[in-house]
Amino acid sequence: MNNTILVTGGAGFIGTNFILEWIAKSDARVVNLDLLTYAGNRRNLSSVEDHPRYTFVHGDIRDEALVASLLRKHQPRAILNFAAESHVDRSIAGPPAFVQTNVLGTFALLQQARLWWESLPPGDQARFRFLHVSTDEVYGTLEPQDPAFQETTPYAPNSPYAASKAASDMLVRAWHHTYGLPVLTTNCSNNYGPWQFPEKLIPLMILNALEGKPLPVYGDGWNIRDWLFVEDHCAALRRVLEDGRVGETYNIGGDNERPNIEVVTAICEILDEMVPDPSLGKRSGLITYVKDRPGHDRRYSINSTKIQRELNWRPTEPFESGIRRTIEWFLAHLDWVNYIRSGAYQQWIEQNYAERLAQ
Ligand code: NAD
Ligand code: DAU
Repeated sequence: MNNTILVTGGAGFIGTNFILEWIAKSDARVVNLDLLTYAGNRRNLSSVEDHPRYTFVHGDIRDEALVASLLRKHQPRAILNFAAESHVDRSIAGPPAFVQTNVLGTFALLQQARLWWESLPPGDQARFRFLHVSTDEVYGTLEPQDPAFQETTPYAPNSPYAASKAASDMLVRAWHHTYGLPVLTTNCSNNYGPWQFPEKLIPLMILNALEGKPLPVYGDGWNIRDWLFVEDHCAALRRVLEDGRVGETYNIGGDNERPNIEVVTAICEILDEMVPDPSLGKRSGLITYVKDRPGHDRRYSINSTKIQRELNWRPTEPFESGIRRTIEWFLAHLDWVNYIRSGAYQQWIEQNYAERLAQ
């Protein structure tokens, strides 16, 4: 076994950030197994494509023969499972892909990870880790006065996405409890930052506001999310990978709860300042309240005391600077935006927003 890690789903938003930082900050190799769904873009990683410590493999985590051959070939010391269908609205419109990748994909990965891990000599077995990247949505929803989610909060997933991630977390737990596979699970709050696919709230609002399009806020705009800059999430994952206690779960959050309407208004104000457009007036005038998401969770809040205490991790990027950095990044990467907003993306925007905006 060598110092290589196998990352799944590394061509998506968080995986891209993780790999770029991993190559820059460590001397270890990374193998990226990604199916390149609509959310995965090989171009995200073009700056490391030819790097001697980076290998891209186009494939599916459900393909057990492929996963087995990658494990034999690259002998990784860890698997980090980012691969998932990740958008709640898409899970409502079409749940099968979520069960396929999030549940059956994680299952396939665990099967092969276990077989390979069992074949290792004891020293390598002790060193190996399976890090499963999960979400705070498994805990369900909070009322305004409820305490934040802890690792001990019972699972109560509400959307097909959350249910599929909860199921995957349970499989990971069982593979540790039953077979002894050295697993770690992280449950993180909403990320934002560079490379985020513009179906999610923050990049969607940045691009619509830039282009003078309606800003579709679901319901009353008072659903609350706990926003974390993606680099802080990646730093937390590195800490968990290196020093997390095997079999444990770690909550990761930004200590940064904000109602959606506040996030959207902040984006409008920053864009008004950075890219003034007299023809639009104040961009907050583009805010349009639309039909709510079915089963829309009201509030997420993460108690990350455990990872702070045990692993000395805490969020470092304040929202005020993180959102500016994110907007600046999108303004500087409009060629990337145009590339990924082709074909399939337009279909999704039409499917999700045409009826909502017509109301
Ligand atoms: P994303 O949708 O941007 O990227 C997902 C990646 O997985 C894509 O590159 C896609 O091509 C790949 N993929 C999908 N199905 C695959 C399959 N069957 N085999 C191989 N690759 C496949 O997602 P993201 O926002 O980067 O999230 C990454 C992980 O982090 C997910 O597991 C998600 O549940 C979790 N998470 C995300 C957030 C967030 O705010 N984005 C917060 C907490 C946890
Ligand atoms: O909490 C972690 C989760 O955060 C991750 O596990 C998911 O992968 C990630 O997609 C995210 O889920 P959300 O559903 O919270 O993120 P999204 O960006 O889709 O929505 C954020 C909030 O904004 C939510 O309350 C719904 C609202 N929203 C979203 C969109 C796309 C709108 O009001 N309008 C929109 O157009």
